[in-house]
Amino acid sequence: MTPNKVNISISGKTVQASEGETIVRALWAAGLGGLVEVGCAGGVCGACTVTLRFSDGRPGGTDLACMRAVEEGMQIFPCPVETQPVPAPQTDPTAEKIRAAFPTLDRCTKCGSCTTACPMSIPVMDSVLRMQSENFEAVAEDFTTCIHCGLCRFVCEDKVKPHHMGMWVRRSLGMSRDSDLLGAGAPPDSFSEKDAEKEWDWLLTADPDERLRRATSFRETGRL
Ligand code: SF4
Ligand code: SF4
Ligand code: FES
Repeated sequence: MTPNKVNISISGKTVQASEGETIVRALWAAGLGGLVEVGCAGGVCGACTVTLRFSDGRPGGTDLACMRAVEEGMQIFPCPVETQPVPAPQTDPTAEKIRAAFPTLDRCTKCGSCTTACPMSIPVMDSVLRMQSENFEAVAEDFTTCIHCGLCRFVCEDKVKPHHMGMWVRRSLGMSRDSDLLGAGAPPDSFSEKDAEKEWDWLLTADPDERLRRATSFRETGRL
């Protein structure tokens, strides 16, 4: 059956699309793929972030163009992709260190827009408050599923950049753990190529619950 046609607009340009297809596919079909950045085309990388509005007055918002299906009257506006370098992570992160790396941390006005915009349901605003109080283990947990779409930064009028801070915390904790392990005398080359192959095979075939259990244990102990 031929799909129904709907009218959408991208940056003010009207395009006819097939009902049910994603925004990205509609733009490709119309020869306008260059208007929205695309990386993974599967909801993982966050390159395709857009803001949406609807002509019938429904509330719009932010979304991923590779995941969101087109609808009649949808107005699409690409979000600029963040290109600024992110401050380097630091071992033994503290509230003082994160404030030095991200002077915008205390600008948060608790508006909640970042939490509302997040397509991964991360409690972004709460996590910013946890960063301020140095509750970094919880922050690392919060940002586990962050796809770096940048929507939380895009909607933040105070330019707080929660996703960059979340990644800084995760990397800083990871670096601290690595240096603890090396300091404890763990040989850095103890993981042979054969072990790595075995690990990959296991990752590709193991039960998802078991993988999660093992990842959690690794985060807590720093050992496989
Ligand atoms: S959008 Fe910005 S100001 Fe609003 S809660 Fe999130 S980080 Fe704070
Ligand atoms: S925390 Fe921000 S960058 Fe990460 S998935 Fe949510 S909106 Fe995107
Ligand atoms: S292209 Fe990667 S999330 Fe859409």
